[in-house]
Amino acid sequence: MRRGILTVAAVGLLAAGNLTACGTDSGDGAAGSPRPKIGVILPDSASSNRWETADRRYLEAAFKAAGVDYDIQNAQNDKARFVTIAEQMITNGVTALMITNLDSGTGKAVLDKATQKGVATIDYDRPTLGGSAQYYVSFDNVAVGRLQGEGLVKCLTDKGVKKPVVAELNGSPTDNNAAQFKEGYDSVLAPRYDAKEYLKGPDQSVPEWNNTTGGTIFEQMLTQTNGRIDAVVAANDGLANAVISVLAKNKLNGKVPVTGQDADAQALQHILSGDQCMTVYKPVRTEAEAAADLAIALARGEKKKTEQTFHDPKGDRNVPAVLLGAQAITKETVKNVIADGYVDKADVCTAKYAELCARAGIG
Ligand code: BGC
Repeated sequence: MRRGILTVAAVGLLAAGNLTACGTDSGDGAAGSPRPKIGVILPDSASSNRWETADRRYLEAAFKAAGVDYDIQNAQNDKARFVTIAEQMITNGVTALMITNLDSGTGKAVLDKATQKGVATIDYDRPTLGGSAQYYVSFDNVAVGRLQGEGLVKCLTDKGVKKPVVAELNGSPTDNNAAQFKEGYDSVLAPRYDAKEYLKGPDQSVPEWNNTTGGTIFEQMLTQTNGRIDAVVAANDGLANAVISVLAKNKLNGKVPVTGQDADAQALQHILSGDQCMTVYKPVRTEAEAAADLAIALARGEKKKTEQTFHDPKGDRNVPAVLLGAQAITKETVKNVIADGYVDKADVCTAKYAELCARAGIG
């Protein structure tokens, strides 16, 4: 994890140096290379709040600070729209395209088209398997999953639950990140299942990370097990919220530990109230800045070295990558997410939560 942070610091420094230099000579229309224009396609705004509340904000700030043109759009979970946006961006002369794909098939089509037209490409947060992106910028997603697994173990230990039945509600089958999160939490849970210390409960993926579908699936899990679920690995905060709503209907919220990911305002409230056991905070600002630095460099015809690579098993290709570290968040550390500027205190410490915020040292 530490290594990831150092890498990005290095990328950030390099980029800052280059940007200063370019900033000075771009005034006279710098030798032949077109003015950078970065296109970004975000996946949707319902599977997680992060895309519109964090990624867009931090990417915009990074592009503005570098003085480059940009166009950030959201495909709203529509693959045809994703392709159309990409085509329009290419026609409108983007020099670099950054995508968070909806699946690898669509992602690959878009990346290949961009490459054909000489547009530089970056996979942002989600890798496109079998694709052609020049860089991949994300988190160490297996490590993120490990934090979720370890977080759940800690909550169960703290509650003194013996032989818990653990349900797993995984992310979208078309998102390689979801597979990596699962690899991470299963690496923590599988040895406990094997030792019969934990009992493996229902284990299902949620198509397209759809939060409503996630709630329905979890409701079915509870029915199938006659309500015998003692802990839930929910792959992100949206799914955790759906699980918590079902648990609340059954008066089980707060009794059954639930994990999450993304550290959104609602999850932080759930953590303060004890309905959610933990989440994972991924500093999206660092991710956005690293990706923006690379996109700007590519758009200027420069190639940066990264210290990490991501192995794309489908294309059997090592993609130069920046893979960042993340942090587990519990009641004691909710304040860190707010102090980092990721979530506003006003969005967490609403009237109902003011007292809990004060107790958690959020001042
Ligand atoms: C991202 C998560 C997000 C999920 C659903 C994943 O690829 O890494 O942060 O919660 O997609 O949008």
